[in-house]
Amino acid sequence: MDELEQAKKAAGYKATAFIKDGMVVGLGSGTTAAFFIEKLSEKINQGLKVDVVSSSAGSKKLAEHFGLQVLDINEVSSIDVTVDGADEIDQNKNMIKGAGAAHVREKILASSSHEMIVIVDETKLVAKLGQRPLPVEILPYGHLFTQKKIEKLGFEGSWRKENSQLHITDNENYLFDIKLPSHEIKKFHEMLIDIPGVIDTGFFTNLAGRVIVGYKDGSSTVR
Ligand code: 5RP
Repeated sequence: MDELEQAKKAAGYKATAFIKDGMVVGLGSGTTAAFFIEKLSEKINQGLKVDVVSSSAGSKKLAEHFGLQVLDINEVSSIDVTVDGADEIDQNKNMIKGAGAAHVREKILASSSHEMIVIVDETKLVAKLGQRPLPVEILPYGHLFTQKKIEKLGFEGSWRKENSQLHITDNENYLFDIKLPSHEIKKFHEMLIDIPGVIDTGFFTNLAGRVIVGYKDGSSTVR
């Protein structure tokens, strides 16, 4: 395991310390969340009693691979905590998510939970958001018109592709990754979600509770 994976593992494993019997737990998506799911599954298989719901087909599949029964989000009446990664996080716990294409469901899950615990390796800490593109999920119907409206506002971006085909999210939508012209992300997010056909962006604000940072030496801190 390389140093970066060690850092992700430290954050993901540490988050399991906050999961207690009786909780309903939201499973995030991505490589850091995968370490959380791995360790949580181990604890559940050893007797920890929690219910889990997932934020993506990928995290559901992984949890099932470890023997967990994953509930549909509409089968639970409340969610205690969601544990999820991020692509960038600033000092005010604003985030960019969605490199793994799951940000729409992740935001629904996080905003429906009493707490979102964020798990990141140290490379995700940034002074200002916007080093990476902002993922925007877009309805396929009329997506080229939606693109024109986005570009008319002055944004540049590209359609996310997989094997040269448009990437299709779990919600059967497309993703347009936008290169932000400056760091005014909140304003840009609000402009973008006003456009018909835009489902949501990967900008997360006022959602993160505790943030667990994993370091390459295998240590972690909780903020
Ligand atoms: C998926 C996400 C992930 O949480 C984010 O991309 C972080 O992934 P990783 O832990 O693999 O770096 O937002 O939509």
